[in-house]
Amino acid sequence: MAAIAHGIRTVGVVGSGQMGLGIAYVAALRARVPVLLYDRSEVQLKKGLAFMDKLLDKDVAKGKISSEDAKAARDRVSVISSEQGLSGMRDTDMVIEAASENLSLKEAIFKELSQKVSPDAILATNTSSISITKIAASTIQEGQTASSAEGSKSALRVVGLHFFNPVPKLVELISALQTSQDTLDRARAFAVACGKEVTTSQDVPGFVSNALLMPFINEAIMCLEKGVATRDDIDKTLKLGMNHPMGPLQLGDIGLDTCLAIQQTLYTGTGDSKYRPSVLLERMVDAQWLGKKSGKGFYDYDA
Ligand SMILES: NC(=O)c1ccc[n+]([C@@H]2O[C@H](COP(=O)([O-])OP(=O)(O)OC[C@H]3O[C@@H](n4cnc5c(N)ncnc54)[C@H](O)[C@@H]3O)[C@@H](O)[C@H]2O)c1
Repeated sequence: MAAIAHGIRTVGVVGSGQMGLGIAYVAALRARVPVLLYDRSEVQLKKGLAFMDKLLDKDVAKGKISSEDAKAARDRVSVISSEQGLSGMRDTDMVIEAASENLSLKEAIFKELSQKVSPDAILATNTSSISITKIAASTIQEGQTASSAEGSKSALRVVGLHFFNPVPKLVELISALQTSQDTLDRARAFAVACGKEVTTSQDVPGFVSNALLMPFINEAIMCLEKGVATRDDIDKTLKLGMNHPMGPLQLGDIGLDTCLAIQQTLYTGTGDSKYRPSVLLERMVDAQWLGKKSGKGFYDYDA
């Protein structure tokens, strides 16, 4: 079967946290497309770019890429200023949103993107759990309806493109009820160009990945909360006993606020008590102990 062209000449990435940065990295390095990166926090943008430089240097040092390729990738990434905001995404063929895991925030971003970006551009979200169908509906402007020509055209270009971060090989592709086949095909082709394998999932809370992973992490936190075992023994059990590359508490430390937001979406989205977030997870987020990104979680990290 002939490969489908993604037709993306420039990609926009909204959010330069762990995920936005990772997506910008693979898009610039692997898919070799110009990337416009935007974050509402200038501090976070600077931090993100510094982290990208570090990742590129590391890959060069390990002999994974040449210094020429690293330089070319870095040169493909430019930043959109806060004055320009999402208007700076005007000339992109695809925008991938990787802002914080919050429905109303994502709805506001998609509403604005659908006004500012060309009607033919794909609007993808990297959400871990939120309904892609709801996000797609937020692109329908006032005066339009879900069945009007403009309203349906706006929503059919929205898709879930769930990257994990620069290292894992997978992207989960999720169709909203409204997503067109052309949007799905092009989004998949772009993920492949980024060097990823693609699986597909229905638009259910947590899709496949987080419907399985988050209850697992949550259950490990409950073990710690109940004093069943120590942090180190919980992680060691899964690492050595089940050959997991990381223990569940170590994995949760990638972002405890994101874990909690996903767990809450699973709980409210299904009404199933098995998804109730652990009290310890809630309290750690209350304390701003978010894991790696804040320097403290189940483990301590250097600044
Ligand atoms: N961390 C993971 O392992 C992981 C994996 C897959 C998917 N995700 C999903 O990716 C998304 C981002 O997660 P993350 O871990 O990178 O979070 P993060 O907290 O590291 O980064 C989020 C970034 O979004 C920015 N932001 C918030 N509101 C914004 C706005 N209105 N406009 C522009 N930027 C805005 C913040 O300043 C921050 O830099 C979430 O939806 C999350 O569920 C996370």
